[in-house]
Amino acid sequence: RISKIPYEEIGAEKLSQLMHAFYKRVSKHPLLIPIFPEDLSETIRKQIQFQTQYLGGPNLFTEEHGHPMMRARHMHFNITPDRAQAWLECMASAMDDIGLDGKFREIYYKRLVMTAHHMINAPNEEE
Ligand code: HEM
Repeated sequence: RISKIPYEEIGAEKLSQLMHAFYKRVSKHPLLIPIFPEDLSETIRKQIQFQTQYLGGPNLFTEEHGHPMMRARHMHFNITPDRAQAWLECMASAMDDIGLDGKFREIYYKRLVMTAHHMINAPNEEE
């Protein structure tokens, strides 16, 4: 059964596991390494807050950082189509890593695809 609030479907514990698995992959991805900080602990903390509210849970991100304005917050990074693809691949692999599957995964991932595409703000770099 799918809850009306997707956050209740995954829960705090699994969401935290997912974000740790995700940034472990981000930290090893050649296209993503150059734009992320070396120490990802603060990034993980913020992303857990954001994903909690993105999935309909408590507004943890807004409470601490104000309006998300996600596209604006990403403007000073070069988000190319290839980087968006890399981000999504890391996420799909992280979902595999923690054994997230079924209808919940399908719905959540589709939403992340839309948000990731919305973040693109630069063309791919020429070879
Ligand atoms: C922060 C890259 C997509 C949510 C960041 C940061 C980078 C980045 C470099 C800064 C990390 C830091 O300094 O701590 C990317 C790339 C994406 C992408 C390459 C590919 C499309 C997304 C998506 C979401 C998201 C789809 C949400 C569903 C966030 C959040 C933060 C963040 C919540 C923290 C914002 C803050 O510091 O206030 N992202 N991102 N990102 N990203 Fe993304």
